[in-house]
Amino acid sequence: MICLTLAERTLEDAASCVKKNREYIDLCELRLDYLDDKEQKRASLFPQMVDLPVILTFRRIQDGGKCSISEKGRRSLMFQALDGSFSYVDIEEDVKRSEVEEKARSKGIRIIRSLHDFERVPEDIFSRLYHLAEKGDIAKVAVTPRSFQDVLTLFRVEEELKGVEKIVIGMGDYGVCTRILYKRLGSMLTFVSANEVAPGQISAEKMKIEYRADQVNERTAIYGIIGNPVMHSASPVLHNRGFKAINFNAIYVPFLVDNVRSFFMFAEYVKMRGFSVTVPFKVDVLSYLGNITREVKQIGSCNTVVRVPGMWKGINTDYYGFIKPIMTDIDSGRIKNALVIGAGGASHAIVWALRNYGVKVTILNRTLSRAEDIARLNVCDFDRIENANKYSGKVDLIVQTTSVGLFPDVDQNPIEGFRFSGKEIVYDIIYKPRMTKLLKEAQKAGCILHYGSEMLLEQGKLQFEAFTGYHYPHWVDSGL
Ligand code: ATR
Repeated sequence: MICLTLAERTLEDAASCVKKNREYIDLCELRLDYLDDKEQKRASLFPQMVDLPVILTFRRIQDGGKCSISEKGRRSLMFQALDGSFSYVDIEEDVKRSEVEEKARSKGIRIIRSLHDFERVPEDIFSRLYHLAEKGDIAKVAVTPRSFQDVLTLFRVEEELKGVEKIVIGMGDYGVCTRILYKRLGSMLTFVSANEVAPGQISAEKMKIEYRADQVNERTAIYGIIGNPVMHSASPVLHNRGFKAINFNAIYVPFLVDNVRSFFMFAEYVKMRGFSVTVPFKVDVLSYLGNITREVKQIGSCNTVVRVPGMWKGINTDYYGFIKPIMTDIDSGRIKNALVIGAGGASHAIVWALRNYGVKVTILNRTLSRAEDIARLNVCDFDRIENANKYSGKVDLIVQTTSVGLFPDVDQNPIEGFRFSGKEIVYDIIYKPRMTKLLKEAQKAGCILHYGSEMLLEQGKLQFEAFTGYHYPHWVDSGL
């Protein structure tokens, strides 16, 4: 079930929030601690104002809520609210036998026994959960993973506590994957928001439409992307839309990871079929792979991992993703030589791709020694970035691979003042913003432009093929 948390000031606002999100949700949670004082007294009316089951929650400050009145006052308001036809009431672990609990039981309102931890995942989480469920209540833990190892612990809850009715939530960025894959944790519901109430929450529409989180079953194949940071990634939208269009029972999830080792343990645990790899793990994953392609070996970095019998295989779709948009110009001889700005990981893959297709390359970089290293491996020239104008009018292609100009520093250009002749093809691999400062200047000079989003789309389509064995559906809007 997908549960919308209602953090509104009036019952009317809360009801209209439900109405707006109705098609995406199965139940909602009325947060009394967000309601205005006089609205709290009317809370019993709320269940009749909406057409779905409602959880009553009055969260204390120490548990991440806003209720600052006395415990007696809080309980009295909850007691009063229970005159209404709520389906569930949330009562914290440490609240001993209370009149609220008795009233709920006598009215057949299910009790959710909750435990919050904003610091960590408690070591004894399995036994804590077990005790919460002791009286036949629904056990709820909302805890904060601080590493990917903690995330793995949360995924083990289902195995340890099979058959126990429970709600399990990992808060914060590490926990995002637990919210999306809630069914794999054995959690009866996941919380979504209209506006972010808790760190890591996802909107109702995104959870239902982009992730289709409520459709996950035992046979759903799990894919995803690992990185740090990773939440900005455009890949989940691309892959999830592709899966949906071809009716492929799979889900693609962003995983914030701190170390690759615990992620590989997780990938085995949930029997992942493959995943994308982004910064800073493209090299770290190599030691876990039993098989790599020629490109991965040569470039020394891997952006896609797929399961093959008995092992993980690493491929690099950045390479083809980069070259595809300019392939016809290389084939026709329009591109014979290129200037590559930057000498990092991305530059390495790009230089190798260009050299593979016989393009002559000069690498320009701020740190000359890094340019020299790549140049030596790929038999090409190198120079200081300040000397860019020496190459004005002499190159067919300019590729920008540094992070200069990336959002939010959109006013920067690594080769400021470069004199474009207007005949160059200019390719910036930055995709946010689409139109970088460098591209704007190239456009003014009449150059042909290629965007980072083209590379991203092509490499994503190739990953999709590696994951599913099907072409990316051409009729789908990939979001790029
Ligand atoms: P990636 O894997 O994305 O290529 P990277 O390996 O960190 O990332 O490489 C970043 C590239 O951007 C490098 O070429 C870096 O230049 P240095 O080798 O001199 O560090 C370049 N870069 C980053 N910030 C820069 C800046 N302010 N001016 C010029 N180049 C910059």
